[in-house]
Amino acid sequence: MLDMPAIRDDLKTVYDLAPNPELAASMQAEYARMSRVVSPVDWAIHAPYVAAINALKRERNAAILAHNYMTPEIFHGIADVVGDSLQLAVEATRTEADVIVQCGVHFMAETSKILNPSKTVLMPDMAAGCSLAESITPEGIAQMRARYPGAPVVSYVNTTAAVKAASDICCTSSNAVQIIRALDAETIIMTPDQYLAQNVAAQVPEKRIVWWEGSCIVHEQYTAQDIRDFRDWNPGTRIIAHPECPPDVVAEADFSGSTKGILDYVSAERPQRAMLVTECSMASNISDAHPEVEFIGPCNMCPYMKKITLEKVLWSLHTMTTQIEVEAEIAEKARLAVQRMIDLSAAKA
Ligand code: 13P
Ligand code: SF4
Repeated sequence: MLDMPAIRDDLKTVYDLAPNPELAASMQAEYARMSRVVSPVDWAIHAPYVAAINALKRERNAAILAHNYMTPEIFHGIADVVGDSLQLAVEATRTEADVIVQCGVHFMAETSKILNPSKTVLMPDMAAGCSLAESITPEGIAQMRARYPGAPVVSYVNTTAAVKAASDICCTSSNAVQIIRALDAETIIMTPDQYLAQNVAAQVPEKRIVWWEGSCIVHEQYTAQDIRDFRDWNPGTRIIAHPECPPDVVAEADFSGSTKGILDYVSAERPQRAMLVTECSMASNISDAHPEVEFIGPCNMCPYMKKITLEKVLWSLHTMTTQIEVEAEIAEKARLAVQRMIDLSAAKA
């Protein structure tokens, strides 16, 4: 576990990290992208970290890959690439930086390392896990294979490298339907997200999909009754749900898609009011780009994603820790499963 008081003391000896309204005022380009959701007072607190991280990034030839669930000061202040799980995996194969800092959760950093074995991949907090990734092991995959002999295994990217290595192909929430449709098999095993599997099964009725019983602790909290109550309270609101939500929640929504799919839908439809049935930062991060949309509704936070902070990113780049390592044999097998997914998604795009 990171010793934050000690880290804070060490950082103070090298960087001037005190709140700085003058510095904040000189960084209007960055602030303009988040001014609807980050107050000037908070920006004066974040600006010294953002300036220090961006300078260190240039010094180290580092690129920051940030998931759509990062807080706005990370998403808009320091990221070089932002996106959903698929976009981050694809961008990890394209970056020319020597160092990748993963602002997201551990499985994302592992995916970047698997795709870029020669690069340094840094994880600002190794405790940033994922309830889905923790729900299944390679033994679980073996059990499913024994139960459904001959059925291919499609594992969500929200899995460890070892689970990816034991799978035939990966998927993300943005390409799961494509991947399932493309597989030449009647029965397909999907792990570890039972709800993603059930939502995909509803769209691909010609296949028999069987699943592992994992779930996301953020999306499983929503219920269909919540959505109905919300509609009654706020008629006319466009309800947009992530496919990690239970199927009856998705059925109540106007649209369901990955975090990129959600952004694309909002950009195309520009509803007057929208409720994003997903992690809390998603709405914050797209709010400034869509001033015409009023984002309302619940705010469930992912405790893992929220472990990543500006302070930890600065520490990570300053000390070049923690470097992600994946055992070569596992990395090679996992890379095949991820690369198959990337190739199939590109072919179908
Ligand atoms: P996407 O960004 O791929 O939609 O995934 C959401 C998620 O929960 C990642 O952990
Ligand atoms: Fe995992 Fe859910 Fe958090 Fe995404 S939101 S990292 S699926 S626990």
